[in-house]
Amino acid sequence: MNDADPTMVAIEPMRRRHLRSVLRIEAAAEHEGWSLGLFLAELRRDTDRCYLVARVDGVVAGFAGMLFTDVDGHLVTMATDPAWRRRGIATGLLVALAHEARRRGMRNLTLEVRAGNAAAQSLYRSFGFAPVGVRRGYYADGGEDAVVMWAEGIDGDGYAERLRALAARPPSGATAPAVPISTPGARP
Ligand SMILES: CC(C)(COP(=O)(O)OP(=O)(O)OC[C@H]1O[C@@H](n2cnc3c(N)ncnc32)[C@H](O)[C@@H]1OP(=O)(O)O)[C@@H](O)C(=O)NCCC(=O)NCCS
Repeated sequence: MNDADPTMVAIEPMRRRHLRSVLRIEAAAEHEGWSLGLFLAELRRDTDRCYLVARVDGVVAGFAGMLFTDVDGHLVTMATDPAWRRRGIATGLLVALAHEARRRGMRNLTLEVRAGNAAAQSLYRSFGFAPVGVRRGYYADGGEDAVVMWAEGIDGDGYAERLRALAARPPSGATAPAVPISTPGARP
Protein backbone atom coordinates (compact mmCIF):
# COMPACT_ATOMS: atom_id res chain seq x y z
CA MET A 1 0.00 0.00 0.00
CA ASN A 2 1.33 3.47 -0.86
CA ASP A 3 0.12 6.98 -1.64
CA ALA A 4 -0.19 6.23 -5.37
CA ASP A 5 -2.33 3.16 -4.74
CA PRO A 6 -4.60 4.01 -1.83
CA THR A 7 -6.54 1.14 -0.36
CA MET A 8 -10.23 1.91 0.06
CA VAL A 9 -12.17 1.21 3.23
CA ALA A 10 -15.90 0.80 2.58
CA ILE A 11 -18.30 1.06 5.52
CA GLU A 12 -21.54 -0.81 4.98
CA PRO A 13 -24.30 -2.65 6.86
CA MET A 14 -23.27 -5.92 8.54
CA ARG A 15 -24.83 -8.98 6.89
CA ARG A 16 -24.89 -12.67 7.82
CA ARG A 17 -22.21 -13.34 5.22
CA HIS A 18 -19.80 -11.07 7.17
CA LEU A 19 -20.17 -12.98 10.45
CA ARG A 20 -17.37 -15.49 9.88
CA SER A 21 -14.93 -12.56 9.59
CA VAL A 22 -16.59 -10.68 12.43
CA LEU A 23 -16.19 -13.69 14.73
CA ARG A 24 -12.54 -14.04 13.68
CA ILE A 25 -11.94 -10.43 14.73
CA GLU A 26 -13.88 -10.98 17.97
CA ALA A 27 -11.69 -13.99 18.75
CA ALA A 28 -8.55 -11.90 18.25
CA ALA A 29 -9.72 -9.17 20.64
CA GLU A 30 -8.45 -9.13 24.20
CA HIS A 31 -11.90 -9.67 25.71
CA GLU A 32 -14.53 -12.43 25.65
CA GLY A 33 -16.52 -11.81 22.47
CA TRP A 34 -20.08 -12.20 21.29
CA SER A 35 -21.30 -15.56 19.97
CA LEU A 36 -22.63 -16.27 16.48
CA GLY A 37 -26.11 -16.67 17.98
CA LEU A 38 -25.99 -13.24 19.57
CA PHE A 39 -24.89 -11.55 16.32
CA LEU A 40 -27.63 -13.37 14.40
CA ALA A 41 -30.27 -12.31 16.93
CA GLU A 42 -29.06 -8.70 16.79
CA LEU A 43 -29.07 -8.61 12.97
CA ARG A 44 -32.71 -9.74 12.99
CA ARG A 45 -33.67 -6.69 15.10
CA ASP A 46 -32.80 -4.07 12.53
CA THR A 47 -35.41 -1.44 13.41
CA ASP A 48 -33.66 -0.16 16.54
CA ARG A 49 -30.13 -1.33 15.76
CA CYS A 50 -27.37 -0.52 13.31
CA TYR A 51 -24.44 -2.88 12.75
CA LEU A 52 -21.70 -1.90 10.33
CA VAL A 53 -18.57 -3.50 8.92
CA ALA A 54 -15.50 -1.80 7.48
CA ARG A 55 -14.12 -3.69 4.49
CA VAL A 56 -10.64 -3.13 3.07
CA ASP A 57 -10.51 -4.30 -0.53
CA GLY A 58 -13.51 -6.48 0.27
CA VAL A 59 -12.11 -8.05 3.45
CA VAL A 60 -13.79 -7.26 6.77
CA ALA A 61 -11.28 -5.30 8.89
CA GLY A 62 -13.58 -4.05 11.65
CA PHE A 63 -17.14 -3.79 12.85
CA ALA A 64 -19.32 -1.86 15.27
CA GLY A 65 -22.91 -1.81 16.44
CA MET A 66 -25.28 0.61 18.09
CA LEU A 67 -28.78 0.31 19.50
CA PHE A 68 -31.18 3.23 19.69
CA THR A 69 -33.53 3.92 22.60
CA ASP A 70 -35.60 7.12 22.84
CA VAL A 71 -32.93 9.80 22.30
CA ASP A 72 -29.83 7.76 23.15
CA GLY A 73 -27.57 5.74 20.89
CA HIS A 74 -25.78 2.97 22.80
CA LEU A 75 -22.54 1.68 21.29
CA VAL A 76 -22.66 -2.04 22.12
CA THR A 77 -19.74 -3.55 20.23
CA MET A 78 -16.69 -2.46 18.25
CA ALA A 79 -13.43 -4.08 17.20
CA THR A 80 -10.75 -3.75 14.54
CA ASP A 81 -8.68 -6.62 13.16
CA PRO A 82 -5.28 -6.36 14.93
CA ALA A 83 -3.59 -6.19 11.49
CA TRP A 84 -5.57 -3.01 10.68
CA ARG A 85 -5.42 -1.07 13.94
CA ARG A 86 -4.32 2.59 14.19
CA ARG A 87 -5.39 3.33 10.61
CA GLY A 88 -8.68 5.03 11.35
CA ILE A 89 -10.98 2.00 10.89
CA ALA A 90 -12.75 2.36 14.27
CA THR A 91 -12.92 6.13 13.79
CA GLY A 92 -14.62 5.64 10.42
CA LEU A 93 -17.09 3.16 11.89
CA LEU A 94 -17.97 5.44 14.80
CA VAL A 95 -18.34 8.47 12.53
CA ALA A 96 -20.83 6.47 10.43
CA LEU A 97 -22.75 5.28 13.52
CA ALA A 98 -22.87 8.80 14.96
CA HIS A 99 -24.29 10.09 11.64
CA GLU A 100 -26.88 7.32 11.75
CA ALA A 101 -27.76 8.25 15.35
CA ARG A 102 -28.24 11.88 14.31
CA ARG A 103 -30.37 10.80 11.35
CA ARG A 104 -32.59 8.87 13.77
CA GLY A 105 -33.00 11.90 16.04
CA MET A 106 -30.72 10.76 18.86
CA ARG A 107 -29.38 13.48 21.15
CA ASN A 108 -26.77 11.52 23.11
CA LEU A 109 -24.40 8.59 22.74
CA THR A 110 -23.40 6.25 25.54
CA LEU A 111 -21.27 3.13 26.08
CA GLU A 112 -19.53 0.98 28.65
CA VAL A 113 -15.81 0.35 28.28
CA ARG A 114 -13.40 -1.74 30.33
CA ALA A 115 -11.61 0.36 32.94
CA GLY A 116 -8.27 -0.95 31.63
CA ASN A 117 -8.99 -0.34 27.93
CA ALA A 118 -6.98 2.86 27.44
CA ALA A 119 -7.00 2.55 23.62
CA ALA A 120 -10.79 2.50 23.34
CA GLN A 121 -11.20 5.25 25.95
CA SER A 122 -8.85 7.48 23.97
CA LEU A 123 -10.87 6.81 20.81
CA TYR A 124 -14.13 7.62 22.61
CA ARG A 125 -12.77 10.83 24.14
CA SER A 126 -11.99 12.09 20.63
CA PHE A 127 -15.73 11.70 19.89
CA GLY A 128 -16.64 13.82 22.94
CA PHE A 129 -17.44 10.94 25.29
CA ALA A 130 -16.75 11.78 28.95
CA PRO A 131 -16.74 9.33 31.87
CA VAL A 132 -19.75 9.71 34.17
CA GLY A 133 -19.50 6.67 36.43
CA VAL A 134 -18.20 3.16 37.02
CA ARG A 135 -20.11 -0.15 37.09
CA ARG A 136 -18.15 -2.33 39.52
CA GLY A 137 -17.40 -5.88 38.32
CA TYR A 138 -19.50 -5.35 35.16
CA TYR A 139 -17.69 -7.83 32.91
CA ALA A 140 -18.46 -11.52 33.49
CA ASP A 141 -15.02 -12.69 32.30
CA GLY A 142 -12.86 -11.64 35.24
CA GLY A 143 -15.09 -9.03 36.86
CA GLU A 144 -13.36 -5.94 35.43
CA ASP A 145 -15.06 -2.62 36.13
CA ALA A 146 -16.83 -0.75 33.32
CA VAL A 147 -16.48 2.99 32.83
CA VAL A 148 -19.76 4.51 31.64
CA MET A 149 -19.22 7.28 29.09
CA TRP A 150 -21.62 9.75 27.49
CA ALA A 151 -21.40 12.19 24.61
CA GLU A 152 -24.24 14.69 24.89
CA GLY A 153 -25.71 17.12 22.35
CA ILE A 154 -24.81 15.08 19.28
CA ASP A 155 -27.82 16.59 17.47
CA GLY A 156 -26.19 20.02 17.35
CA ASP A 157 -24.16 21.71 14.60
CA GLY A 158 -21.05 21.58 16.76
CA TYR A 159 -21.14 17.80 16.84
CA ALA A 160 -21.65 17.62 13.07
CA GLU A 161 -18.50 19.73 12.74
CA ARG A 162 -16.64 17.37 15.12
CA LEU A 163 -17.66 14.39 12.96
CA ARG A 164 -16.49 16.17 9.81
CA ALA A 165 -13.11 16.85 11.44
CA LEU A 166 -12.79 13.25 12.66
CA ALA A 167 -13.65 11.87 9.23
CA ALA A 168 -10.96 14.06 7.64
CA ARG A 169 -8.23 13.44 10.24
CA PRO A 170 -5.39 11.06 9.42
CA PRO A 171 -4.59 8.85 12.44
CA SER A 172 -1.68 10.44 14.34
CA GLY A 173 -0.49 7.20 15.90
CA ALA A 174 -0.52 5.31 12.62
CA THR A 175 2.22 2.78 12.01
CA ALA A 176 1.16 2.48 8.36
CA PRO A 177 -0.41 4.89 5.87
CA ALA A 178 -3.96 5.97 6.62
CA VAL A 179 -6.61 4.60 4.32
CA PRO A 180 -9.35 6.65 2.65
CA ILE A 181 -12.80 5.81 4.02
CA SER A 182 -15.95 5.73 1.94
CA THR A 183 -19.29 5.51 3.74
CA PRO A 184 -22.03 5.11 1.15
CA GLY A 185 -24.57 4.15 3.83
CA ALA A 186 -23.92 7.11 6.14
CA ARG A 187 -25.63 10.43 5.63
CA PRO A 188 -24.29 13.65 7.15
C1 LIG B 1 -10.18 0.10 20.37
C2 LIG B 1 -10.10 -0.31 18.89
C3 LIG B 1 -11.51 -0.63 18.39
C4 LIG B 1 -9.53 0.89 18.09
O1 LIG B 1 -9.57 0.52 16.71
P1 LIG B 1 -8.63 1.23 15.61
O2 LIG B 1 -9.23 0.94 14.29
O3 LIG B 1 -7.23 0.85 15.83
O4 LIG B 1 -8.84 2.77 16.00
P2 LIG B 1 -8.41 4.06 15.15
O5 LIG B 1 -7.26 3.76 14.24
O6 LIG B 1 -9.62 4.65 14.55
O7 LIG B 1 -7.85 4.97 16.33
C5 LIG B 1 -8.49 6.18 16.68
C6 LIG B 1 -7.91 6.71 17.98
O8 LIG B 1 -8.13 5.79 19.05
C7 LIG B 1 -7.02 5.86 19.97
N1 LIG B 1 -6.28 4.60 19.96
C8 LIG B 1 -6.52 3.52 19.17
N2 LIG B 1 -5.66 2.53 19.49
C9 LIG B 1 -4.88 3.00 20.49
C10 LIG B 1 -3.82 2.44 21.25
N3 LIG B 1 -3.39 1.17 21.04
N4 LIG B 1 -3.27 3.18 22.22
C11 LIG B 1 -3.68 4.43 22.45
N5 LIG B 1 -4.70 5.05 21.75
C12 LIG B 1 -5.28 4.32 20.80
C13 LIG B 1 -6.14 6.96 19.45
O9 LIG B 1 -6.60 8.18 20.01
C14 LIG B 1 -6.42 6.90 17.95
O10 LIG B 1 -6.10 8.07 17.28
P3 LIG B 1 -4.59 8.25 16.69
O11 LIG B 1 -4.26 7.00 15.95
O12 LIG B 1 -4.74 9.47 15.82
O13 LIG B 1 -3.71 8.46 17.88
C15 LIG B 1 -9.13 -1.52 18.69
O14 LIG B 1 -7.95 -1.28 19.41
C16 LIG B 1 -9.73 -2.85 19.10
O15 LIG B 1 -10.36 -3.53 18.32
N6 LIG B 1 -9.52 -3.26 20.38
C17 LIG B 1 -10.06 -4.51 20.87
C18 LIG B 1 -11.58 -4.46 20.99
C19 LIG B 1 -12.02 -3.30 21.85
O16 LIG B 1 -11.37 -2.90 22.81
N7 LIG B 1 -13.20 -2.74 21.51
C20 LIG B 1 -13.80 -1.65 22.24
C21 LIG B 1 -14.74 -2.23 23.24
S1 LIG B 1 -15.50 -0.94 24.25
